[in-house]
Amino acid sequence: MELIVARNREDLVKARAGGDVALVPTMGALHEGHRSLIREARVRADQVVVSIFVNPLQFSPNEDFSRYPRTFDADLDVCRAEGVDVVFHPAVEDMYAPDRQVSLSAGRMGTIAEGAVRPGHFDGMLTVVLKLFNLVQPDMAIFGQKDAQQLALIRRMVADLDLPIEIVGAPTVREPDGLALSSRNRYLSEDDRRVALALSRALRAGAAERTPSRIRAVARAVLDAAGPELDVDYLALVDPATFDEVSESYEGEAVLAVAARVGSTRLIDNVILTLN
Ligand code: PAJ
Repeated sequence: MELIVARNREDLVKARAGGDVALVPTMGALHEGHRSLIREARVRADQVVVSIFVNPLQFSPNEDFSRYPRTFDADLDVCRAEGVDVVFHPAVEDMYAPDRQVSLSAGRMGTIAEGAVRPGHFDGMLTVVLKLFNLVQPDMAIFGQKDAQQLALIRRMVADLDLPIEIVGAPTVREPDGLALSSRNRYLSEDDRRVALALSRALRAGAAERTPSRIRAVARAVLDAAGPELDVDYLALVDPATFDEVSESYEGEAVLAVAARVGSTRLIDNVILTLN
């Protein structure tokens, strides 16, 4: 089957086929992490739609919207190789009318952890994801655990707004040395990359401990040992559904999440662990 490139709602309607539709929302610059989501979609659904849209609403003015990597032709090759049926690639002007007024709020959960460092980011992310859901009308959508708070907020949105879409979370894909794959990794120099390894190293060290206080302390020590080139935004041990910090007596699944800047590149990573 030929890969269809859809630019708007009409194209999407024409491309619709029978059976279950899975949507994989992305901002492009596709890597092995995105590919794993596409494969997950491929085994679950009859038709796979990948959206490629760098969403201006989720970048603040001081962030890297204009510098964000755009590699559309290579992305199409990836999608063809993975057996994607439809790539949805709208123009910014078509997604956001100049007179638009209404958008989503991520609520309190959008203001903690990643949301505290990136005000408005999750509001913009949810707004575009809801628009993509409405345009593509998928039966399911696949998201990476790599962006754990994003995944939690999308589950929250689906519950709070009664969206008839199944949300599937997929595990984080890493380089052999532990670095979580990210479209932003291409900005890292060789030295940066060495420093960046402290993120996954800290998470692994923390995850080997048993109590919240030890987990936090051990992970923090690894981050501190990386020196001043690693500028840590936060290290958080949280409930995966709410992103509230867990107490010392907490039991169940928790997420140990970290965000840091290496040079001008901002990286996030997390691991899931079980406390009992
Ligand atoms: P983007 O950063 O392109 O990520 C698209 C999807 O790929 C997200 O679900 C993300 O969690 C997943 N992903 C990224 N790196 C991964 C890795 N190493 N392993 C597994 N999955 C990975 O996230 C966004 O775009 C945007 O916020 C979006 C949801 C498209 C809304 O604009």
